[in-house]
Amino acid sequence: MKLFEPLPQRGLSLRNRIVVSPMCQYSAVDGVPDHWHLVHLGSRAVGGAGAVIAEATAVSAQGRISLGDTGIWNDAQVAAWRPIAAFIAAQGAVPGVQLAHAGRKASAQRPWDGGGALAAAQGAWTTAAPSALPFDAGWPTPEALDAAGIRVNRVRWAAVLASGCLAGLGGASLSIFLASSFTRDMTAGRGFMALAALIFGKWLPVPAAAACLLFGFSDAVQIRLQGVVLWGVNPVPVQFIQVLPYLVTILVLAGWVGRSRAPKAIGLPYLKR
Ligand SMILES: Cc1cc2nc3c(=O)[nH]c(=O)nc-3n(C[C@H](O)[C@H](O)[C@H](O)COP(=O)(O)O)c2cc1C
Repeated sequence: MKLFEPLPQRGLSLRNRIVVSPMCQYSAVDGVPDHWHLVHLGSRAVGGAGAVIAEATAVSAQGRISLGDTGIWNDAQVAAWRPIAAFIAAQGAVPGVQLAHAGRKASAQRPWDGGGALAAAQGAWTTAAPSALPFDAGWPTPEALDAAGIRVNRVRWAAVLASGCLAGLGGASLSIFLASSFTRDMTAGRGFMALAALIFGKWLPVPAAAACLLFGFSDAVQIRLQGVVLWGVNPVPVQFIQVLPYLVTILVLAGWVGRSRAPKAIGLPYLKR
């Protein structure tokens, strides 16, 4: 039982492993935490928790779930957080905060007022989200990210160009570098591995590139292993060795990677509003 043992984290040490998770209080005015937050968070620190994480705290007024959310986008809020964090620390707990942006779920009523979308008369505001889709029927349509300065089409063009260049390099290595040893089906399922790498990388470019490197590395190991001769014979039939990169990638895929979902908008045209 390690619950009450200290937990060192780089330069930080928690006195035990009890961490108070962020809990929205919907009790701030203009994003400024007050006595409520001091007592709510402070009493957890007095109670002995190792760390106390303050509720989802908006990084912009637009990113608040409700009008009662705490925020950290202006000096008044920072000044109000300071004594709360100092009090938690003085009790021997580590203060933390969950930085948040509610996206299309912003501009909502407090849970005890119903939790639905705010009406204009209740102070509704324009929300911002990655795409211009409302959270649900009756909720406002958020400004898409391009309205907030992210050029979605430009990013897509760049991604297609970059992946085209990489695919071109792969094709060139097969058709030019290996042309002298051309055999039928020499691509040997690598197209499938590219898809597997994408899933393995959870559709993110850097992890997907790492998955490709893993496949390439095990392919190189496989080629080396084919040359291993013990007592005048190859100890393992070459077909088993050739399976190695595929096996490694599939094992990693099946064993390590949790759920991997394709981005929702994949293959859909991006229509600027
Ligand atoms: C009143 C209340 C407010 C919450 N607010 C937040 C929040 O601001 N941010 C968040 O990520 N989770 C929030 N949660 C979820 C909790 O942080 C926690 O994940 C959840 O209670 C499950 O934890 P448990 O499995 O230890 O019970 C809230 C939960 C409660 C009960």
